[in-house]
Amino acid sequence: MARELSIVAKGTDQPWGVGFLAWAVDAGAVEQALEFQPAAVMLSFGDPSPFVDRIRRSGAVVMVQVTDLEEARRAVDLGADVIVAQGTESGGHGARRGRSTLPFVPLVVDLAAPVPVLAAGGIADGRGVAAALALGAAGALIGTRFQATTEALVDPSVSKAVIEGRGQDTERNSVLDIARGASWPTEKYTARTLGHPYLDRWRGREDELARDSQARQDCRDDVARGAIPPMPVWAGEAVDLITDRPSAADLVAALAAQAEDALARAGRRHPDDRPRAQG
Ligand SMILES: Cc1cc2nc3c(=O)[nH]c(=O)nc-3n(C[C@H](O)[C@H](O)[C@H](O)COP(=O)(O)O)c2cc1C
Repeated sequence: MARELSIVAKGTDQPWGVGFLAWAVDAGAVEQALEFQPAAVMLSFGDPSPFVDRIRRSGAVVMVQVTDLEEARRAVDLGADVIVAQGTESGGHGARRGRSTLPFVPLVVDLAAPVPVLAAGGIADGRGVAAALALGAAGALIGTRFQATTEALVDPSVSKAVIEGRGQDTERNSVLDIARGASWPTEKYTARTLGHPYLDRWRGREDELARDSQARQDCRDDVARGAIPPMPVWAGEAVDLITDRPSAADLVAALAAQAEDALARAGRRHPDDRPRAQG
């Protein structure tokens, strides 16, 4: 936060936002972020209720990312200004027992109306944005795609892996969180990552890995001396659609133009336009 808040606050006069993991954050961290006057604050993964009033009093828009209908209902009851409906295609963390974006988003749209909903998970080009709008969402929240932009504060090897990665090589797992000693509650949350040697070694033996502190230390040592890739590379199922590393501004413009084009094409479709059967 110390690094990134000042970069974004000094770097733009446009609205910007900051996100927190509700299970991990404390009130002090929220206060620290609010000092930089974000336009929006997003709370994900856990109970957002201790933080909502304070964020609202600051004047920031309250966004809540949800992974099931109970969380969506709670977000509406708390008065969230924007709800993000996250499907399991997403890169990074999400619910172990989550839902796919396509069927989940319209349910949240209906439940939350008139609160605007953003679709998240598996969206990496303008066609995905158009699909989100067709599902009744007010827009899309996109993660993986932005790791391959010039501004992303990721190691160049991560951008490269995202550009070269394939959706079929992504997998939701808790192995890499356990191996790196992350404090994520793995009974509730997994993360979708690209493949990794440790994932192959420990898949299905998560409990054993959690008990084996030497194995976890070996893993961190292997990363430190470069024997295995840095871990993990968080990436969603739409990673195949990512083939270049534009600036974030160019990417947003391209997403908007592609979405308009996709919606216009979909709007022109008519039953009479279908090719007729031959013979
Ligand atoms: C590298 C990476 C880091 C992420 N970190 C967070 C996070 O700190 N908090 C959060 O709520 N979601 C986080 N997410 C998930 C996003 O909020 C979003 O749900 C997801 O990226 C959408 O799916 P997509 O990656 O297919 O676009 C992260 C996703 C990625 C790819």
